[in-house]
Amino acid sequence: MSKVAETEFPVHELIKSRWSPRAYTDEPITQDELYTILEAGTWAPSSMNDQPWRFSWALKSNKEAFDTHMDALLQGNKAWAKHASAIVLIAARNTFKANNVKNPSAKHDIGMATQNMLLQAQALDIYCHVIAGYDREYVDSTFALESPFEPVTFVVFGRLGDPALLEEPFASRELQARERMSFQELSFTPNHNPKV
Ligand SMILES: Cc1cc2nc3c(=O)[nH]c(=O)nc-3n(C[C@H](O)[C@H](O)[C@H](O)COP(=O)(O)O)c2cc1C
Repeated sequence: MSKVAETEFPVHELIKSRWSPRAYTDEPITQDELYTILEAGTWAPSSMNDQPWRFSWALKSNKEAFDTHMDALLQGNKAWAKHASAIVLIAARNTFKANNVKNPSAKHDIGMATQNMLLQAQALDIYCHVIAGYDREYVDSTFALESPFEPVTFVVFGRLGDPALLEEPFASRELQARERMSFQELSFTPNHNPKV
């Protein structure tokens, strides 16, 4: 079963082949690979080039740091994410550095950086899964993040594993087809609301 997107138009292979697995092998990813992915994130565009993304990361080889990050995930995510080889917490600076005024684009720009990281990882044959299901109170009490910084998402990274090794319901989910609404369905005009 292929999880590669079936597209109407010739979308780039890197975009089509990225998906969010839950099954990972034990094969480690290297520090250089993780640093390449993080640097790719920093080359995203951002409002005023403010670069509001901040990263806290751990490779599995650093057990203490890895567990500190992993323990933030809700049980339904931790159950499979623990097999990944690296984990990153992406935080936002929600004010501009220059004047400390609220940056309404901060989380938008975090998304830009995150997708850069996902595609860079895909180019290295490393798979990723973005995770917003985490315990915010745990993060607030464990990480020394204070205003204007706030946690946004975790991302786990690893080599693609065998879905058969997953427990249910994750094994079945891993085999489900990937679906998207078409861009035509998502389109709108100046005079009409989007249809959905
Ligand atoms: C901001 C964000 C938060 C997400 N949080 C979770 C999560 O907590 N648990 C999970 O299993 N997947 C999570 N996902 C993964 C999405 O469910 C997944 O990207 C989506 O179903 C599309 O699948 P695909 O990435 O394989 O194309 C998250 C994705 C994003 C972008």
